[in-house]
Amino acid sequence: MGYLVTRNEKYDFLGQSYATKYPNIHKYPATMIPQIGIELFKELNIKGKLLDPYCGSGSCLTAGLENGFLEMDGFDVNPLAVLISRTKFSEIDIDKVEIVKQNLQNDIYDFIKQENNISNIQIVQYNNIDYWFSKPVLQNLSILKHFINKIDKDIQQIFLVPFSETIRECSYTRNNEFKLYRIKQEEILQFNSDVFSVFFNKLNKVIGIYSKYYLPKINNLKINVHCSEFKNINKKYDVVLTSPPYGDSFTTVAYGQFSMFSNQWLGFESARQLDRMLMGGHTVKQIYDGSIITDYVKQISIKSKKRALEVSSFYFDLHKSITNVAKSVKKKGIVFYIVGNRRVQDIQLPTDQFVAEQFEINGFNHLFTYERLLSNKSMPLKNSPSNKAGCTKGTMTKEYIVAMSKQ
Ligand SMILES: C[S@@+](CC[C@H](N)C(=O)[O-])C[C@H]1O[C@@H](n2cnc3c(N)ncnc32)[C@H](O)[C@@H]1O
Repeated sequence: MGYLVTRNEKYDFLGQSYATKYPNIHKYPATMIPQIGIELFKELNIKGKLLDPYCGSGSCLTAGLENGFLEMDGFDVNPLAVLISRTKFSEIDIDKVEIVKQNLQNDIYDFIKQENNISNIQIVQYNNIDYWFSKPVLQNLSILKHFINKIDKDIQQIFLVPFSETIRECSYTRNNEFKLYRIKQEEILQFNSDVFSVFFNKLNKVIGIYSKYYLPKINNLKINVHCSEFKNINKKYDVVLTSPPYGDSFTTVAYGQFSMFSNQWLGFESARQLDRMLMGGHTVKQIYDGSIITDYVKQISIKSKKRALEVSSFYFDLHKSITNVAKSVKKKGIVFYIVGNRRVQDIQLPTDQFVAEQFEINGFNHLFTYERLLSNKSMPLKNSPSNKAGCTKGTMTKEYIVAMSKQ
């Protein structure tokens, strides 16, 4: 196929971040800035039904919101991602939230005044929890959880979002990492987190962002965020906008580790297994064959068979997902995949071409691939391509917007 990549500076959005246009309500790894989608929809004058099969914290759906899409579906396997996205795109009664917030403050204040009240609360327990949380933090988080559990379901999620960030911030994890690393022992001795103050500050911030940026635009819209892999739900979409993972979660962006505490506290039983459930999480037994990517995987295989199989798992999953997504797009519908070409064993994998190839096989034409500089993505710019500790290399400084249209 004649495949052309065009450098397009317009899509760099240099100096801009996520927050420039639509602040996020919760940290999330490898978020895409919504400006990319907003500009793409404008450039191609797209309206209609939107799908994001890997919606994460919802930046593609946000782009749809800005551009007046009336119906959108997002899918993600990570319950934390689903909580963030669902909260942003649900219509929540803010007057009720303010009243409940006031009551929550009063209830907690009254509760902690009486020391023996604590014996009525179930302190959250799971394997290794004391390694990550001090006793007072664990106790106060358990009190918060006890009261948040009592909140009506129609508004509860807006309290769970800041609760989730509070869990991580008040734990012994280094907060600037996506993976779970404990702070040093001497830092633990100086660590003193005020759970309630962290939580209520965050709650005010979330309510403020939600009310100003999201709520005014979601009147009467049909936005559904599904906690599962993408499934064809008997709908055809006019447009797909998505940024899939760059590779498996073990050697690229650690979504499962980043979300583990939140998912555990939110009651997701498989929190520790999440990375296995994500794309490329299960290692296959054969090399991915019959595609543009195969030669590259074979080169990796010469250096490490194991790495070649890990990489293959990811492309098997992406292949399967694209076949499903392709079926759900209307004739003349457009798909935009925003991907990065990561390096494994010093070999750069052309995922952009792979995506274009797979959609072509499924009856799409290549419209364009734009190359953009990756200056505003919250992700590690270094990783360990050989997957050996300490052996890091710059990974990606560019990403690709692959646009295809269905014949
Ligand atoms: C690059 S992130 C998407 C980021 C999103 N655009 C945002 O701004 O937050 C990729 C997402 O794919 C999700 N994911 C990985 N494997 C998946 C699968 N098989 N089905 C659905 N989602 C999956 C991860 O949980 C992660 O949230």
